[in-house]
Amino acid sequence: MSAVGSYTLAAVAPIVVQAPAIGIDPAIRCRQVTKEFGTDDAKIQVLHGIDLELPPGEMALLVGPSGCGKTTLISIIAGLLDPTAGSVDVFGSNITDMRGREKVRFRGANIGFVFQQYNLLPALTAVENAAVPLLIQGWKRRQAIDKAAEMLEEVGIGHKRNSLPNQLSGGQQQRVAIARALVHEPRLLVCDEPTAALDASLGQVVLELLRKIAVQPDRGVIVVTHDSRIYGFGDRMVTMSDGRIDKILTDRSEFAH
Ligand SMILES: Nc1ncnc2c1ncn2[C@@H]1O[C@H](COP(=O)(O)OP(=O)(O)OP(=O)(O)O)[C@@H](O)[C@H]1O
Ligand SMILES: [Mg+2]
Repeated sequence: MSAVGSYTLAAVAPIVVQAPAIGIDPAIRCRQVTKEFGTDDAKIQVLHGIDLELPPGEMALLVGPSGCGKTTLISIIAGLLDPTAGSVDVFGSNITDMRGREKVRFRGANIGFVFQQYNLLPALTAVENAAVPLLIQGWKRRQAIDKAAEMLEEVGIGHKRNSLPNQLSGGQQQRVAIARALVHEPRLLVCDEPTAALDASLGQVVLELLRKIAVQPDRGVIVVTHDSRIYGFGDRMVTMSDGRIDKILTDRSEFAH
């Protein structure tokens, strides 16, 4: 049994190599994505023409030094931030061109996002926070709360369902954020450092759950991480530096380097 840090590869379901079905769109396709922040006299360019295609049915890891543009890129991929130029398709739908309600509706139905800073709503309890994506989709409150409570159980904090975010530890808040991102079983799950506040065994539980729910033939996951313990859960590693993609690795034995 090989081990990556303190997480074991044996815990990961074997990868079934399937020929992609004809006509299935990539989970993500970025074309010449650039991003600048600031105004003319103090402008910084954070992304320099990113081209990236990730197939469905995989968990891709996005790694690179602090400040290289990982959060910026995945925020654009998830439609939370507009690129300065270029475009992003999510399962064949160009989200960069979507406007207003159309984009909100598409995101609500198809994308789950785990924020680096959790971004829980402070006035809502853990279970209400986790239910938000379902309520936005029009689920009845009772059913949404029941489904969200199941997700909290899965991430091991069912007993904290009625706590407010400020009554939870960082790791507990992170797990609420993960439950919220998974509750509507999105086609694309985007996670920014999902294990940063978790110890080794919780990290393993969370990664197994992410794989179980989100790695399916018609779904996809992209995970930004500094946590080498979770490298064994990835199918592909995209390395970035200074706003550019350096390498895309598909052989797990190369992930640690
Ligand atoms: N809203 C903003 N306005 C101005 N600059 C920004 C903004 N957001 C990010 N940046 C800058 O863009 C660069 C990339 O930031 P980003 O958050 O994408 O990095 P990161 O790779 O996620 O880093 P980390 O690993 O520390 O989270 C940084 O230099 C950052 O200061
Ligand atoms: Mg970041």
